[in-house]
Amino acid sequence: MKVALITGCSSGFGEAFVRALLGAGWTVVATARRADQRNLFEAESKAHPESLAVLPLDVTSEAERAAVRQAVEQRFGRLDLLVNNAGYALFGALEDQSPEQLRDEFEVNFFGTAFLTRDLLPLLRASKGRVVNVSSVFGYMAFPMASAYCASKFAVKGLTESLRHELAPHGVQVSLLEPGGHRTRFGANIAWAKRFDDPASPYHRQSQGYFAFRQKLGAGKGTGTEGVTRALLRLASAGRMPPRVRVGSDARWVYRAMKWLPEWLGNLLVGRFARRVQAMPPSLGAG
Ligand SMILES: NC(=O)c1ccc[n+]([C@@H]2O[C@H](COP(=O)([O-])OP(=O)(O)OC[C@H]3O[C@@H](n4cnc5c(N)ncnc54)[C@H](OP(=O)(O)O)[C@@H]3O)[C@@H](O)[C@H]2O)c1
Repeated sequence: MKVALITGCSSGFGEAFVRALLGAGWTVVATARRADQRNLFEAESKAHPESLAVLPLDVTSEAERAAVRQAVEQRFGRLDLLVNNAGYALFGALEDQSPEQLRDEFEVNFFGTAFLTRDLLPLLRASKGRVVNVSSVFGYMAFPMASAYCASKFAVKGLTESLRHELAPHGVQVSLLEPGGHRTRFGANIAWAKRFDDPASPYHRQSQGYFAFRQKLGAGKGTGTEGVTRALLRLASAGRMPPRVRVGSDARWVYRAMKWLPEWLGNLLVGRFARRVQAMPPSLGAG
């Protein structure tokens, strides 16, 4: 029996990961905020009563993290794979955000990942298990109106790469999953900066442009979660996990451009694109 624990399973990648790992024969601990009130994975629980546990977990809650660790220990006695997937984007200018918003972005995306990993490392060391942290193309490309999200995902990258070396002597493998844009509830779950829509904000015009850009992305067909799911299954079964896997042509192109272009040219191109995005007409966007 191999046991995987996934965070943020109420929608999107997390939900797809649960089904994919169950289908591949894993025992899965699917966690989500308010999972006890949400009737999540009813059909799967009936089909796999022994190999699926659905548990409530807000990754920012120390008590819930402790309860989940205890439940895994008692019910399965082992953990082979931790997927730190829970996360969301706070968008808008730094000056338009409240300090609480900025802190919460890090509480979920960074501290949630770091503390849950820390809590579960005794089990992962015992099984010589694996950790997969879900980052983003915004974990290696900085973008205006996305400073909080980018900073939190850059931090996840630093954590992941350091842990990869720190845990290697203990037989625990660590990898980063870096998706580009995919069709999930990510867009619907965006938190916008407090003063994002305030006409008196010096950033109002840029915010309108960025909002219109996100609206346009959301209105498109978008990419389904299959590629990200396949990437996770490969990571779960590979003899040696690579340090990072990028999923989606946007993620791969941005990476190649940043790796192979001289820094000044990369900056110039990102700067041009950023200016275009922030100047987009607000017809689709915030008023
Ligand atoms: N979709 C994309 O284009 C994209 C691209 C790059 C990276 N990502 C990353 O992929 C991961 C999954 O996102 P997604 O695209 O699947 O979006 P999603 O559908 O919005 O899923 C995000 C999940 O995270 C959960 N979550 C948020 N705060 C949480 C907390 N404090 N504790 C526990 N769970 C929490 C949400 O739960 P609730 O339902 O309770 O809010 C939801 O289940 C995120 O880390 C995101 O940054 C997404």
